[in-house]
Amino acid sequence: MKRVAIFLSGGGSNMVALLDDMARSGHAGMPCVVLANSADAGGLERARERGVPTVAVDHRPFKGDRTAFEAAISAALEPYAPDMICLAGFMRVLTGGFIEQWTGRMINIHPSLLPKYKGLHTHARALEAGDSKHGCSVHEVTAALDDGPILGQAEVPVLAGDTPETLAARVLVQEHRLYPTVLRRFAAGDRTPVMLQS
Ligand code: GRF
Repeated sequence: MKRVAIFLSGGGSNMVALLDDMARSGHAGMPCVVLANSADAGGLERARERGVPTVAVDHRPFKGDRTAFEAAISAALEPYAPDMICLAGFMRVLTGGFIEQWTGRMINIHPSLLPKYKGLHTHARALEAGDSKHGCSVHEVTAALDDGPILGQAEVPVLAGDTPETLAARVLVQEHRLYPTVLRRFAAGDRTPVMLQS
């Protein structure tokens, strides 16, 4: 079994989707800890409700010293002995120093059809560009932001009248399908990219 750590910053809907799928039969991964960069992240309570250990490492006391913050993360993870990390709505940028310790063992979900729209405000940018389709991607995390090998994508149509909020909601439904699908394969050692149609 692969011991899976999940990092989040917010409500953790992606984390919930991952936990629920790991609770189903035949999954090569098991959740060992959910980590948040603030103690009041809503996802921590949802993890606790599902019996998964949680830890909060607040980034603010480190005042931008990313290396010190990441050393605190590594220390907090140690007792749970994760084999891999899933970033799921984790809103802190990790340095290359931390990422290289997890090369090939850390994945992330990003709300765009990478390589389009790396970074933030992806839904607004897709609308501004007049794209007819949008979606989400799961990728291996490398030092370059939102840039690693693609492990899966899910597409949604952009509809007339869409706002960033309506588009984000449509994408989020697909995130909750895509991320568990990719993690189930990745934990079993299968990196074949998966493409989902909505
Ligand atoms: C999602 O849109 C995801 O694409 C991004 O963070 C957002 C919040 O995710 N990475 P969650 O509900 O906290 O899982």
